[in-house]
Amino acid sequence: MDRESYQLVKEEIKRSADIVDLVGNFVQLRKAGRNYVGLCPFHSEKEPSFTVNRERQMFHCFGCKKGGDIFAFWMAYHHCSFPEAVKDLAERYHVPLPEKPLSAEEKRKRALREAILAVNEKAARYFHGNLMDSPGAEGARNYLHNRGIPVEVIRQFKLGYAFDQWEGLVGYLERGKVDRKIAESAGLIILGKKGRYYDRFRGRVIFPIFDLSGRVVGFGGRVLDEGHPKYLNTPETQVFQKGSVLYGLNASYPEIRKTRKALIVEGYMDFLALWIAGIRNIGATLGTALTPSHVRRLKGYASEIVLVFDSDEAGREAALRGLPVFLNEGVQGKAVLLPPGHDPDTFVKAEGPERFLELVEGAPSLLDFYMNQRLSDNRATVEEKVSVLKELLPCLYEVKDPTLRAGYVRRVSEAVGIKESVVWEELDRFRKKDGGQIQGRLRNKASEESAAKRYNRDLHILNLLIHHPETRAQLAECEWQPLLTDATIGTVIEAFLDKYKREGQFEPQDLVEELEDERARNEYREALLLPSFYSASSARVAVEEIKNKIREIKITSSIRDARRRGDMEELNALLKLRAKLHQGLMQ
Ligand code: UTP
Ligand code: MN
Repeated sequence: MDRESYQLVKEEIKRSADIVDLVGNFVQLRKAGRNYVGLCPFHSEKEPSFTVNRERQMFHCFGCKKGGDIFAFWMAYHHCSFPEAVKDLAERYHVPLPEKPLSAEEKRKRALREAILAVNEKAARYFHGNLMDSPGAEGARNYLHNRGIPVEVIRQFKLGYAFDQWEGLVGYLERGKVDRKIAESAGLIILGKKGRYYDRFRGRVIFPIFDLSGRVVGFGGRVLDEGHPKYLNTPETQVFQKGSVLYGLNASYPEIRKTRKALIVEGYMDFLALWIAGIRNIGATLGTALTPSHVRRLKGYASEIVLVFDSDEAGREAALRGLPVFLNEGVQGKAVLLPPGHDPDTFVKAEGPERFLELVEGAPSLLDFYMNQRLSDNRATVEEKVSVLKELLPCLYEVKDPTLRAGYVRRVSEAVGIKESVVWEELDRFRKKDGGQIQGRLRNKASEESAAKRYNRDLHILNLLIHHPETRAQLAECEWQPLLTDATIGTVIEAFLDKYKREGQFEPQDLVEELEDERARNEYREALLLPSFYSASSARVAVEEIKNKIREIKITSSIRDARRRGDMEELNALLKLRAKLHQGLMQ
């Protein structure tokens, strides 16, 4: 696809799409004045600084500075390239897409991913077909039946069966003329020592793992008996990262979004058992602990995440590791531990969904959960209490909000029975060990603040240009450069006025993509999101003030010159001129 038709497709997508609706599918947004705000999916935060603006069809995070149009959002959210974003969005909005030559590297990567997804799709169909129809899958059907999985659920989640054969899938793919290298990259088949490929999944019930668009990114397979390993998963591939997928999320996210709450379990079967019991705001990690990547993905839909643990040992571990993530993501993290011997699957079957939900309702915060776990028997020694405190210090230290931190310190102090002042002292000592970093952070903050002051006038000029088209002609005539203190904003203003001189009036957001420097783009996006500082009449006055300021700067520099040359006459004239200017007598 050549540049021109590419541009046309982009424009067409922009016409069909609305950024607030699109982003709203992934991030919970609420209206705040002219903007919509939500928790940024691209960095840790508790207060929403992620901003979406309908009028300008752009988003911007005031925290991490990520921003741009729908394409930029799609690329960042789905970790894909620009051409891929265009293609995905073209599909989503039914915009026909002419063929387009990608860069060789992009082509290769894209093709590989597409090919892997295609093979996965084929394999999923093969496994599902086996399970539904094949006489050889009788055992698997019985197995699932005995575990209470009805056939509708088998269909909905496209469960399957891999025969207990070395070349079941290999043969199937061969008949379908599938490139074996691709199937190998998909983790479906393995090249043996003798140069023959064999199936990774053999004699297993298959759980395809879908992404949010319903594409098959990987598989899990369970043995029907006591064999080892109990579950086998797709290895890491171009389309599968275990640490960021949640099993079932493609089906459950509408319910999570509705309830603003997500229950996280560990296993495929746990997920399905809850689903069947009618509890549907759920996701399953693939046996791993919840990662920051999981939390970031979820927090767009959920403000509360409840981790359901079935073993106290693993639960404690996961809770401790999860703590800092939750404390800083602005998502309420809670945890429940099921009675010994139970996992969600067995519990909901034995006790019913109501009992399960009661447990979830009463779930303590992760912090309380962790402390209860570590200090469960009242006979914890002083040494044990101190060691719990030491484990928690890094987490407390990570809490950025001072009020929140004070709250946590009090709770920890109560729970471990160590005076609050001592906890603060310990925290202080911990901070000193980490002193270098903190100093750096403070210094950054200070320079941020003084920078904010300096930008002021620069931003005012930009604000006039953006919101008051009638000032553009006059400002284009000014020698405004000496007024500026920020080089980046200077380049933005310059680019703005260049475009204006070339093309006449234009929509301000059209300039974003023309800015080459990333920092310039960020600054400009922020400027676009700010409301007008001026009314129509005060804008006129502001332009005059700018002109006067420029004259003043010029006069001041001439004064310096005259003084240096000893030209007293000139100096006197200039000083008078400047005085007049200050009195506002000069136009
Ligand atoms: P569990 O061992 O708790 O199994 O593993 P489970 O989910 O209760 O399985 P059932 O009920 O016996 O069928 C929890 C999750 O850990 C991952 C799987 O995702 C599993 O669902 N796991 C477990 C593996 O990846 N490999 C294993 O060998 C075991
Ligand atoms: Mn189980």
